[in-house]
Amino acid sequence: MTEYRNEITRTIFERRSTHHYLEKPVAREDLEFLVSCGIQAPNSRNLQPWFIACVQDKEILSAINKETVEGLKEKDPFRFSKPGYSVFGNAPAVFFILGERSVTTASIDCAFLGGNMVLAAQSIGLSSCVMNQPLIAFEGSRKDALLDMLKAPFGYTVRFALGVGYSDSEGERKPKERTERCVVYL
Ligand SMILES: Cc1cc2nc3c(=O)[nH]c(=O)nc-3n(C[C@H](O)[C@H](O)[C@H](O)COP(=O)(O)O)c2cc1C
Repeated sequence: MTEYRNEITRTIFERRSTHHYLEKPVAREDLEFLVSCGIQAPNSRNLQPWFIACVQDKEILSAINKETVEGLKEKDPFRFSKPGYSVFGNAPAVFFILGERSVTTASIDCAFLGGNMVLAAQSIGLSSCVMNQPLIAFEGSRKDALLDMLKAPFGYTVRFALGVGYSDSEGERKPKERTERCVVYL
């Protein structure tokens, strides 16, 4: 049993990814709060080379999902041919985190931003999941149309998506235990 030293470390230990969400929408002020927390992240030279598209519009999510599933089906037809499959796990809100292509540290900067957001979500009772699967939609022939839907500024590419919502814990799988064999103290 881990001994939490404070509420922040409790939040770190208690956060787990969610793949199934209730239909309940997320309040706009909560979405804005997550963005405010995200942009406090450390980032190289304080360039803040990110752009965040917060999508609740079902048509946009469905267009990105469709394109993602098409791409995934090419790689694994058996797994992704189930009708109605959603890579977003029906999350009511999905943030698409874009990084400026010309900034070499943008991926790292965006990852720190996402880290802040998932912990902030956990701290206010929201569940979340980082997703790289939807990236495939932004590599296909409809990538420009999808970037337009996200109102992406020129020169930015999607680095990952982040679904948020209220967990429908039914069917949620338990992630494997963490191991501390990944460290050496010298
Ligand atoms: C870069 C990255 C990409 C991920 N992509 C996906 C994804 O496409 N679909 C998904 O269901 N989960 C995705 N995850 C969530 C991981 O599966 C999850 O973080 C991992 O199993 C550990 O579980 P936990 O987050 O509950 O601790 C991703 C996580 C990261 C950090």
